Amino acid sequence: MSGKEASRAVQFESFGGPEALRVREVPVPQAGPGQIRVRVTAAGLNPMDWFMTSDAETAARFGLSLPCGFGTDYAGVVDQLGDGVREFAVGDRVFGGALSRAVADHVVVDVAGTIAVGGEAHRTPDGLDDRTASALSIAGCTAAAALAVVDPGPDDTVLIGAAGGGVGVFAVQLARLAGARVIGTGSESSAEALRALGAEPVAYGDGLADRVRALAPGGVAAAMDLHGTDTVQAARELGVPDERITAIAAQVDGITPANGANAAPGTLEKIAGLVAEGRLRVPIARSFPVEDIQAAVELQKGRHVHGKVVIDL
Ligand SMILES: NC(=O)c1ccc[n+]([C@@H]2O[C@H](COP(=O)([O-])OP(=O)(O)OC[C@H]3O[C@@H](n4cnc5c(N)ncnc54)[C@H](OP(=O)(O)O)[C@@H]3O)[C@@H](O)[C@H]2O)c1
Repeated sequence: MSGKEASRAVQFESFGGPEALRVREVPVPQAGPGQIRVRVTAAGLNPMDWFMTSDAETAARFGLSLPCGFGTDYAGVVDQLGDGVREFAVGDRVFGGALSRAVADHVVVDVAGTIAVGGEAHRTPDGLDDRTASALSIAGCTAAAALAVVDPGPDDTVLIGAAGGGVGVFAVQLARLAGARVIGTGSESSAEALRALGAEPVAYGDGLADRVRALAPGGVAAAMDLHGTDTVQAARELGVPDERITAIAAQVDGITPANGANAAPGTLEKIAGLVAEGRLRVPIARSFPVEDIQAAVELQKGRHVHGKVVIDL
């Protein structure tokens, strides 16, 4: 497709599961004042993509209505500038987020926007390929926000629940870069991948606190639950103070939740720089052509992905 007149976009005409997703031909969107248009080459998936669009009521809470796009993280190349844009030039490589409309040949984003409002773009550093860049925004910001809550340091042993997932792979490595020892929960199938990231694997499920105690008899200083509440519970059993425990996927009384939207300014530039320098790795579990969007989302929904799932456009 030339990209001049028509553009592909993954859309819902009714909210629901992956079976409701369709690849549609749509008019190429045009950049307005203060906006850029990006020719998207890769879009990283996150659980929030299918959670937000699972039914009309949930979608409405995120301000989404039909027909609705899909996916939030993207990377690509600027191919049109709106009036007044000085920050980017045509041909610049960029990555970022645009809430529930990123799996498309073209996405228009506000130069001064946020993921939730107008979309946002960051320059892709040399040395960072587009698939990898498309996997950074939501997961990288969320991991950084979680680290900011529990503040791991060189003398700390940190317990991370769901350490091999999309957010986990960033959280493990950021904690390691901060000098911490990391114990990460996962199934048997995650163990090798966790070791490769610098974490010591431990099985999740009943008896987690005992297994962690055996690995770290000196105690655990901080914990991040990236799946539910089991890691929070285990951390409390291990005597970790509530102020050094956080959760990203559940609300727990007394625990400060972490949210990617609250990541410190400059977080993505820092993470992209670490990846470009080879100091942080982003495992891509699998990539799919856009035509296979339903299969890609099914895989993600299984919740046993190691790293990120990416759509090629
Ligand atoms: N608050 C925020 O801003 C924010 C942002 C992003 C994500 N989230 C939420 O955070 C959660 C994680 O996101 P993600 O992108 O990392 O998801 P993900 O990639 O789907 O996570 C997959 C990982 O979860 C692990 N897992 C599956 N069942 C588990 C269990 N019972 N206990 C512990 N781990 C288990 C899997 O490990 P095995 O394969 O080894 O089983 C797998 O590595 C999602 O619920 C997401 O909606 C919140």
